[in-house]
Amino acid sequence: MLIRPSEVTPERVWQERRSLLGAAAGAVAGAVAGLGLHGPAAGAETERPNTLEQIGRYNNYYEFSSNKEVVWKLAEDFKPAPWTLVVEGEVERPRSWAIDELHRRFAQEDRVYRLRCVEGWSMVVPWRGFALAELLKESRPNSRAKYVEFTSVLRPAEMIGQRLATLRWPYTEGLRIDEAMHPLALVVTGLYGQPLPNQNGAPLRLAVPWKYGFKSIKAIARIRLLETAPVSSWMNAAPSEYGFYGNVNPEVPHPRWTQKREVRIGEVAKRATLPFNGYADQVASLYAGMDLQQHF
Ligand code: MTE
Repeated sequence: MLIRPSEVTPERVWQERRSLLGAAAGAVAGAVAGLGLHGPAAGAETERPNTLEQIGRYNNYYEFSSNKEVVWKLAEDFKPAPWTLVVEGEVERPRSWAIDELHRRFAQEDRVYRLRCVEGWSMVVPWRGFALAELLKESRPNSRAKYVEFTSVLRPAEMIGQRLATLRWPYTEGLRIDEAMHPLALVVTGLYGQPLPNQNGAPLRLAVPWKYGFKSIKAIARIRLLETAPVSSWMNAAPSEYGFYGNVNPEVPHPRWTQKREVRIGEVAKRATLPFNGYADQVASLYAGMDLQQHF
């Protein structure tokens, strides 16, 4: 049978590989079950991923635009290479990494995660990447390292949204160190088994699936270990609307809308939003004893 080149999308190749992997999965199921990563509630493996087109044509990326439908176009000329990632601050071994060094040092794996935006829409995304914990351990955080700050690149010449004062640039986010060390926290380098598209945060972004999407910072240039909590760009812009934690929580409404429901991109009916975006089994213990209404 002839297949036209246009039909061989990365998405289709990925789907085919996935069904092959499914056949072999029984053999390794015992091994991965121990990690607790790939159960249905963890990897969203039982949910149908959104298409590459859906994931790549509806983006929040304020460095380019606040209009989600034009970001991909405005990001076309962004240059994700060469790129340097700096890891510094409260660590024994500060260092910088070129992208190919990261690829050589850390084995990449495919992980299907749900992504829930604070605005009330969601997707299921087949990311490729490696555990953030592995990268942080390489720099040996010291005993003062309690938080991790992430900073996106600052390039107003290429990122036209950075010429406006919509947010404090460069975009900044943060995690508590135990959150950053959680095995679900992923440094993303790819999507559908291919290099990450510019509009999704090339060449490096986070995927922190139990938190609202704004925590999953794109185009990361610097990671800094800190003793005190950093103030993110969103906390700086609207402290009553965006807290440090950003955990998905249907019981805490955004001041301007409910968080009880969400619409999956490509669907019409709304579905219930799950505590910690469905990852509670794995992450709720990080917040034991905390008042989640107050620490939103
Ligand atoms: N990272 C940067 N640097 N700038 C942004 O504007 N938007 C965030 C997050 N990371 C954003 C960012 C928000 S609000 C969401 S919902 C996700 O990226 C969207 O990721 P996606 O476009 O890959 O779906």
